[in-house]
Amino acid sequence: MTTIEKGDITVKKILDCIAAELAPCFEACGYDRAYAKVTLSNRPDLCEYQCNGAMAAAKAYKKKPIDIAGEVVEKLSGNPVFSEISAVMPGFINIRLDDGYLAEYLRGMEAEKKLGVEETGAGQTIVVDYGGANVAKPLHVGHLRSAIIGESIKRIGRFLGYNMVGDVHLGDWGLQMGLIIEELRDRKPELPYFDGTVRDTYPEEAPFTIGELEDIYPAASKKSKEDEAFKNRAQEATFKLQSGYAPFRAIWKHIMDVSLADLKKNYGNLGVTFDLWKGESDAQPYIPGLIQDLQDKGLAYESEGALVVDIGEETDSKELPPCIIRKSDGAALYATSDLGTIIEREKELSPSKYIYITDKRQELHFIQVFRVAKKAGYVKADTDMVHLMFGTMNGKDGKPFKTREGGIMRLEDLIAEINEAVYARIMENRTVSEEEAKKTAGVIGLAALKYGDLSNQASKDYIFDMERFISFEGNTGPYILYTIVRIKSILSKYQEMTGKSLEDEKEGEILPASSDGEKALMLQLTKYNEVIEACFGETAPHKICQFIYELSDVFNKFYNSVMILKEEDARRQGSYIRLISLTKKVLETCIDLLGFEAPERM
Ligand code: ARG
Repeated sequence: MTTIEKGDITVKKILDCIAAELAPCFEACGYDRAYAKVTLSNRPDLCEYQCNGAMAAAKAYKKKPIDIAGEVVEKLSGNPVFSEISAVMPGFINIRLDDGYLAEYLRGMEAEKKLGVEETGAGQTIVVDYGGANVAKPLHVGHLRSAIIGESIKRIGRFLGYNMVGDVHLGDWGLQMGLIIEELRDRKPELPYFDGTVRDTYPEEAPFTIGELEDIYPAASKKSKEDEAFKNRAQEATFKLQSGYAPFRAIWKHIMDVSLADLKKNYGNLGVTFDLWKGESDAQPYIPGLIQDLQDKGLAYESEGALVVDIGEETDSKELPPCIIRKSDGAALYATSDLGTIIEREKELSPSKYIYITDKRQELHFIQVFRVAKKAGYVKADTDMVHLMFGTMNGKDGKPFKTREGGIMRLEDLIAEINEAVYARIMENRTVSEEEAKKTAGVIGLAALKYGDLSNQASKDYIFDMERFISFEGNTGPYILYTIVRIKSILSKYQEMTGKSLEDEKEGEILPASSDGEKALMLQLTKYNEVIEACFGETAPHKICQFIYELSDVFNKFYNSVMILKEEDARRQGSYIRLISLTKKVLETCIDLLGFEAPERM
């Protein structure tokens, strides 16, 4: 029997523990131990786990699967890990865990710092490129998904021990800068930036507030669509800025300062933080050398006035266009900036993996960038480059989400709308003060928004359905929070009643399950380490959502079937308490990995 030791030894994954019991039996019967692979049962009515190894072995050993299964099961009889193990037609091995073993497993899990999750990432750096806001343009819901998904991936990786470096990679070097400069000239021509002289110093203080800046950009953008001359001026100004013209650099610096403060606040409200606040502008110093190098290596060539690199590979099912490195007018390009950024990241961080998170319309862009980076040897051949693409957040009409007036929804407004709806719901059954309700609404609103997003497979489009997202029932963020709050309340009542402190309560321990509902809860908890690892490997936070939704469900069923606080057997009660605190720890860790937290009450 695999013993689970407390202390510094990591609790193995439950499926591996079971397989470790089966493997020697396969071997003893003359079969390769690799056949002892165990999965969760797909017939929970019949068993908890199953091994299909006999079916695979049958082909290799030219025997009937049921005979192989029978032999292995025979060897396993009397094994204390299992309460039931049987060979069934055509050759499955059906397994149920022994209650005592399961309790022991959970006690081992409880004793671990990370409840059995192994820090497999130690010593490896991963760059997560997410957020991607464009400076001076308001954050809109399109940037929301990148921020939410990226933050979660970063947190999960960090939990697994990786050195995760989150970089916001701002769009801070594009035409919006020229548009703002020219609009500013039209509004305030007297400013020292516009008199044609190049000075050594410029005013410290920005010639606009964030409020004005938010007005300047949309006005300029609108003007450029109607006024060709203005548009040309803006392009010219962008080019001058990019060539280092000091007065425009000075305006750019003001735009950056004012916007960054605002962006930090907005991301902060979302519980999103970055280690690096770099942007496209930071890549610019690398670009001349990059272009030269691509030419020297014979990878870049002139095509219709532009400089391009072929990226096609034999295995491509359709022909992919070359990556444009420099346009005929010499202007900076998105792909070139990304390549420059890679060179900088390699120099400063040398990561073993890159994860970029943008919507799926950027698919070709990242194929091009990744291929050029590998072809030119900027990134090692075995460095993993992942583009996690997400779908669109749609409104109930199935079209990209808009405001009621049909405009682009600003992030701030969206958050305010959700918080208000949650607030109204809390006030319906008004058990807390208005002030507390406001604060709680913010916490629940964020959970509703993030869970609503993360619970969908990232690559799929999803419908932003506020009513559903804020519901306290069903597969929603508030439902998870509600479950946590419920556990918190039982625990504090228990503490009040018994005066026992939960943290250092030594007497109680998790006992073998006393009902099916309790066992279901215990079995669900054992999936924890497996889920976290799989979810990171597949960059799929929705798997955590699925797991905690199921966990909340089995917990609530268990809760409704027992009287925890009225239990008279103190050992049994202590066991319940330990089990539900373990459930709480798992839920709390998972929501932290998703990027939100639970209130004290709701
Ligand atoms: N600023 C870009 C946008 O709004 C996203 C940046 C994504 N990251 C990157 N390294 N290209 O579309």
